[in-house]
Amino acid sequence: MKLGVIGLGAMGWNHARVAQDMGVLGGIAEPSEDLRRKAKSSYRAPMHATHDSLLRESNVSGVILATPTSTHAALALAALEADKHVLVEKPLAATVEDAQRIIDKAKEKGLTLAVGQIERHNPVVGFAASAVKSRKYGDLLAISSRRLSSFPGRIRDVGCILDIGIHDIDFACALAGSEPTVVFARAGSHRSKPYEDHAFIQIGFRGGATASIETNWLTPMRVRHANLTLTEANMELDFVEQVATISTSQPLEPLAPDLATIPTEYNHQVVTLRRKEPLRNELEDFVAAIQDKRPALVDGAQGLRALRVAHAALESARTGKAVEFSS
Ligand SMILES: NC(=O)c1ccc[n+]([C@@H]2O[C@H](COP(=O)([O-])OP(=O)(O)OC[C@H]3O[C@@H](n4cnc5c(N)ncnc54)[C@H](O)[C@@H]3O)[C@@H](O)[C@H]2O)c1
Repeated sequence: MKLGVIGLGAMGWNHARVAQDMGVLGGIAEPSEDLRRKAKSSYRAPMHATHDSLLRESNVSGVILATPTSTHAALALAALEADKHVLVEKPLAATVEDAQRIIDKAKEKGLTLAVGQIERHNPVVGFAASAVKSRKYGDLLAISSRRLSSFPGRIRDVGCILDIGIHDIDFACALAGSEPTVVFARAGSHRSKPYEDHAFIQIGFRGGATASIETNWLTPMRVRHANLTLTEANMELDFVEQVATISTSQPLEPLAPDLATIPTEYNHQVVTLRRKEPLRNELEDFVAAIQDKRPALVDGAQGLRALRVAHAALESARTGKAVEFSS
């Protein structure tokens, strides 16, 4: 099984590195001659100046699209038309309509479509997802997450909601276990125009859970945290360190009537997960999905769901009103 990487920018370079480590790198397409020259010493795979040339390689079964968001639809459709399985970097496409077109084409061709929502392959998210699913700590009531960074000069076709907020949108949708019904957001462009560089997003889910997401490109350091309020515990997730901290408490009998001190004992359990690069998990899942003819962990429908919520957040921020989903 060989995979091609289309686009050798910041993310494509990492995809190519991981694919090569896995022994599945079958080719790279990148229009920049400079990047192709730099890559020659790092990658032992044929280099192509155009995606069309890579798509003609018969030994390449699937491709990873790591190009700017505005190019995803045209390139994904071309790859599927050439009978290649496709892993599209997030967001699946720039618009909901384009995302639906990609999903329809993958279905028509019977090919695997995966979306690079990388956090879903983070061991700490896997841990949280199985704890929520098993109801080990009761029901999930609320998710509050923060994804803050400094301005990434190279992203020029979307704002921070579609670029990084979409990770938390997707993660919240997956954990909530029911469909989003309402989205409200505030956003603005402080430093980078015309796209938003800071946003607060609230999502209500059919099952009753709520997600509250802060994302921006204005913070000097990189923050990637989430807090889950469950009926029987609190769980903090550190996406970078891959650590989950679970806190539980036992109310005690009050010694004397005292409104100021709440008699409680706390218990913190820190779970440091076995570290694994999320991108490696993502590519292994893509390969296994192709080989086993099963859906990828994050398939087209989930990529579309996250995109729909992200666009609802943009609309809400524009109109000042909540956006409700009818179904
Ligand atoms: N999952 C993550 O954590 C993560 C992180 C960063 C970026 N991304 C995503 O990866 C994608 C690329 O982002 P980036 O930061 O690497 O951008 P980038 O600008 O650094 O790289 C994009 C590359 O694509 C190339 N390209 C453009 N059109 C092409 C074509 N037709 N054929 C082949 N190559 C083409 C460009 O020359 C450039 O080298 C975006 O969708 C972005 O959202 C995901």
